[in-house]
Amino acid sequence: MRSDRRLWVLAVLAVLALQAAAAAGASLPGAVGSGGAVSSSDPLATTVGLDTLRRGGNAVDAAVATALALAVVFPEAGNLGGGGFAVLKFGDRLASLDFRETAPAAASREMYLDAAGEPRPEASLFGGLAAGVPGSPRGLWELHDRFGHLPWRRVVAPAQRLARRGFPVSSRLERILEQYRDRLERFAGTADVWLPGGRPPAAGTILRQPALARALAAYARAGPEALTHGHLAAAAERAAHRHGGVLNAADLAAYRPVWREPVRFEAFGWRFAAMDQPSSGAVVVGQILGLAERAGWHRQPRFGANRAHLLAEAMRRAFADRTLLGDPETAQGQATELLAPEWLAQRAATIDPYRATSSRQLRAWPAELPPEPADTTHLSVVDARGNLVALTTTLNGLFGCAVIVPEAGYLLNNEMDDFTTAPGRPNVYGLVQGEANEIAPGKRMLSSMSPTIAWRDGEALAVGGRGGPRILTATAQVLLNLIADDDPLQTALDRPRIHHQWLPDKLFVEDDALSPEIRAELERRGHEFGPRPTVGKVHAVGRRTDGTVTAAADPREPGSAGVVREQQ
Ligand code: GLY
Repeated sequence: MRSDRRLWVLAVLAVLALQAAAAAGASLPGAVGSGGAVSSSDPLATTVGLDTLRRGGNAVDAAVATALALAVVFPEAGNLGGGGFAVLKFGDRLASLDFRETAPAAASREMYLDAAGEPRPEASLFGGLAAGVPGSPRGLWELHDRFGHLPWRRVVAPAQRLARRGFPVSSRLERILEQYRDRLERFAGTADVWLPGGRPPAAGTILRQPALARALAAYARAGPEALTHGHLAAAAERAAHRHGGVLNAADLAAYRPVWREPVRFEAFGWRFAAMDQPSSGAVVVGQILGLAERAGWHRQPRFGANRAHLLAEAMRRAFADRTLLGDPETAQGQATELLAPEWLAQRAATIDPYRATSSRQLRAWPAELPPEPADTTHLSVVDARGNLVALTTTLNGLFGCAVIVPEAGYLLNNEMDDFTTAPGRPNVYGLVQGEANEIAPGKRMLSSMSPTIAWRDGEALAVGGRGGPRILTATAQVLLNLIADDDPLQTALDRPRIHHQWLPDKLFVEDDALSPEIRAELERRGHEFGPRPTVGKVHAVGRRTDGTVTAAADPREPGSAGVVREQQ
């Protein structure tokens, strides 16, 4: 056996062991090092990130390498055909990159309505018409171009290897492919890769993706133009059009990520940098923290009804304001106004400590309760110098619109559903959205992805999650656990969570989040409970005042976190 082949087999065996540990919910809780830390949704991707740090890469090299590995081994959300956001702290320098998808040039406000003006919900979810213009190829490259240290080829190489040589299918992937089988089998090219022989590959099967490997090799050689121009862009256009879409090669060529000033705010003595619009991350997470602080949430008994009530009220108000957000060009509200101390004080003053406010009192809107799938994927990285990256990326729904670009081996997103596809009606997450988020060519759709960096006196955190709108409430609660209650990182992620998103006017609580007595007390205060969901899946890393780093992965999914013990 050639030595690199032997190494690959050893690596695969190590990963199988890691996957087994991760499936059992283990994620190296409490591990501490000085050479950097990575947390992501998948053990293989985390291993790629940690190896990149060991090879001298900085936090951005590791974040981009991890994101590309997720595009290979976590196909339900990792991607080349989607988009995302990254917030960075490099020394004292803060930055954020918006590589969110955009509406194709041929998109229109009514594209998801039928001739009678009725919504066609399937059209914004499955098939080519659901696809926005992918932002990841140029976004990940841009991140590396501005902040990376290792040569680009070396950052792409691990993902390329995983695609070419194959990776052992995890039990998570087998399960999720089975769950989405009926959608994936509608599209022959997609089924060829992800349902070989008509069914999901069994856990442990080595799955190779030769077309994706070739696309990644071209990406490594030529950068984003390999995917956004020429024959692979033409292939994306063909795939979208074959399945009813309007995405054109010219859309891919014209797409540009945008460096935006991160939104800064303060709460509980910590400073934060978070993502501005089209993400609602900064506004919603910032408002939840700001309202909780002003309402005296932290002064209430830790596991009592008062805390749950105040937090739900803070969430309700933050999500009501979210309807003002959208593409920065057309948004009706700005982070500066919506996080202004005067506005937070005014909003906090409307919270009755003993009575739930009706959501309709805050803003009037119709609502229903459609199913709410988990989605997206988040990774957090800190390097030995203390540089931090929080990066969230998505195809929107799991496996996006389920249309693959066969020649490039990647799935297209269904991010168009994050627009207001039928004004006044809820999207797939049950979120009702405002005019600010209506479809127009080239526009960016509103997002819940909320990569966030927090720091205080030499300590720092990178936090974010997956799970649609629950990303926002999960991220805020993990931050509250860390900054107001001083929880260790892993404990902060483990603790049960609650969720309120204004509409539907219901409080969602995880199992064990509230005792029966506290539920009864909250019902007395006017809260109505929804079904018990999982409230987000968070991945976080932290740097302590002594310069050591730590990482934690959410036990709600078999994610994985690890540290590089020694500075390289
Ligand atoms: N597609 C989910 C989000 O951006 O919030």
